[in-house]
Amino acid sequence: MPKLDRGFKLTWLGHNSFWLTTRDGCSVLLDPWVESNPACPKELQSFERIDVMTITHGHADHMADAVNLGKRYRPTIVCNYEIHCYLQRKGLATTAPMNKGGSQTVQGVKFSMVHALHTSGIEEGGQIVACGGEACGFVITLEDGTTIYQAGDTAAFSDMALIAELYHPEIALLPIGDLFTMAPREAAIAARMLAPRWIVPTHYGTFPALTGRPDELRREIEKLGVKAEVVALEPGEVLQ
Ligand code: NI
Ligand code: MN
Repeated sequence: MPKLDRGFKLTWLGHNSFWLTTRDGCSVLLDPWVESNPACPKELQSFERIDVMTITHGHADHMADAVNLGKRYRPTIVCNYEIHCYLQRKGLATTAPMNKGGSQTVQGVKFSMVHALHTSGIEEGGQIVACGGEACGFVITLEDGTTIYQAGDTAAFSDMALIAELYHPEIALLPIGDLFTMAPREAAIAARMLAPRWIVPTHYGTFPALTGRPDELRREIEKLGVKAEVVALEPGEVLQ
């Protein structure tokens, strides 16, 4: 486990959810799926504060807790315009909508919305009830310039090279589970384009169908000669 010693803590809550606390004390929840997330440790399902919440797309395994946690903690909710409209209708007044290509800074942390190749229908009880716009990823630039790319759910796509050119992500949170997202082979090609120093694999193991594993990703990036280190966290484990 590399100790980066930059003052931030990134805790994996399982699946694609992370809790990030920054050097200057901003508490950020990435993709709010905690209470019904079978991989999320019980003690990490409530928070002292959430200042910012980001949402990559409308699927329940990424935003099932957006409304209840949004009402409880009143964070600034960084999401696309369509999810903003849905959350406003649910009574949340603190949304901060944006779209791909743009950036906004909230409490000293910069959020750049980037492309993802996936769908985004918003579900309630297994039914699609609203259009969630397009799925996205985020590049998060911390107070000291550290860049974290959360790919969200996505296939590999060639414009990941553009994300690398624009934002130089040092840490990449990449899905590897297969079936609904990239598998390790696709994630290795993505890593070749993105050229991060560290890769944190996500979106695997939550359900039996999400079969990709970090060891396969290590083998695939070695085959391609990619120099990134794969940092496989356990749910609840912290990269800091
Ligand atoms: Ni999804
Ligand atoms: Mn998903």
